[in-house]
Amino acid sequence: MSNRLNVAPNDLSAFWMPFTANRQFKQSPRMLASAKDMHYTTTDGRKILDGTAGLWCVNAGHCRPKITEAITHQAGELDYAPAFQMGHPIVFELANRLVDVAPEGMDHVFFTNSGSESVETALKIALAYQRVKGEGSRTRLIGRERGYHGVNFGGISVGGIVTNRKMFGTLLTGVDHMPHTHLPGKNAFTKGEPEHGAELADELERIVTLHDASTIAAVIVEPVAGSTGVLIPPKGYLKKLRDICTKHGILLIFDEVITGFGRLGTPFAADYFDVIPDIITTAKGVSNGVIPMGAVFVKKEIHDAFMAGPEHMIEFFHGYTYSGNPIACAAALATLDTYKEEGLLTRGAELAPYWADALHSLKDAPNVIDIRNIGLVGAIELQPIAGQPTKRAFSAFVKAFEKGCLIRTTGDIIALSPPLIIEKGQIDELVDCVRTVLNEVE
Ligand SMILES: Cc1ncc(COP(=O)(O)O)c(C=O)c1O
Repeated sequence: MSNRLNVAPNDLSAFWMPFTANRQFKQSPRMLASAKDMHYTTTDGRKILDGTAGLWCVNAGHCRPKITEAITHQAGELDYAPAFQMGHPIVFELANRLVDVAPEGMDHVFFTNSGSESVETALKIALAYQRVKGEGSRTRLIGRERGYHGVNFGGISVGGIVTNRKMFGTLLTGVDHMPHTHLPGKNAFTKGEPEHGAELADELERIVTLHDASTIAAVIVEPVAGSTGVLIPPKGYLKKLRDICTKHGILLIFDEVITGFGRLGTPFAADYFDVIPDIITTAKGVSNGVIPMGAVFVKKEIHDAFMAGPEHMIEFFHGYTYSGNPIACAAALATLDTYKEEGLLTRGAELAPYWADALHSLKDAPNVIDIRNIGLVGAIELQPIAGQPTKRAFSAFVKAFEKGCLIRTTGDIIALSPPLIIEKGQIDELVDCVRTVLNEVE
């Protein structure tokens, strides 16, 4: 008999919730029961406008028929196939379809189940690649302050968020960090890419001088840092990073877990900034967030370097039981179909100017100290309450939910990233909701 019958529906204690203020939540739960297109519906029947595409992942909106049907069909046809030494047709089809939308030269795909796993996979590919091509002394990984690369040990080691790192020991050794690019003193209230800060890329030269290029395998950055509050790269910064990496034989990894699949109004951030890295990590939008899936894109020369040695031997000792799971692949294929039919990988470009104006209209709202935007991403930074960091933004988040819109906060920053199907009227609704909330919170 189902265990569910024995669980009191109002007992919330067993589930230890991730990245959540558990005690606050369990006193005043925010429960979602269903979703459609741009909206959630709560268990008490209220409609909530989704200003965050779930967790930056539901790019095509919720419960899209094609994706739902594909999952249902696949579950009845081939539910699971072993991922190691076996294949099934749609995982190959999906890899080809992904390569078609990926930036030029990203010819191969390694499947994972999350952004965190994509990051671990990319870091391992980078280290192993240097070794197979005879540069095994390149073992260092370089990340950036305020970077978020998921929660596994590689990701938190190269990541730059103190709360995500400080509890967990010594992390990976041989990691260094570049400075973040957030310069509010010079760039506050910039629309799009900030003017100042490209020279911060030169810090990579300093790190290379310190350690020597022959010890460095890869640099990993989010092209736009999402989770620490939408930090947009200064004009020219990413191109400089690319040049420095190329000059020193260092691989450049773009973590596009948030920016991949249309968020900036181009398929990938690499397209937006016209900077092609060597490896791209993705997840979230690859399957519209519906089923866990991640995909790591690599250049041909990286993939091909592994294809040596006896043919019966495994070339890369890495993979997950659920890499390329058939149901996830079906969801991802239907997601790509939906993106294509509705032009969603570029729709953000059309809406971006309207989005920018709407967000920046909040400039005079109480406690706003900066507003940032690019594509269909935005951030509204608030002055923290003295001695109580994060409290003002968290109160705004709770109040917004009461008023019918889902926003996300990180520190004292409100981050917005709606599904790419959002209409102009809904942008107005979202911004009006934030304005009302800012007028009301302490
Ligand atoms: C840039 C980036 N990398 C990695 C991750 C981790 O993804 P996941 O939560 O799917 O492990 C995230 C999640 O937000 C992210 O924004």
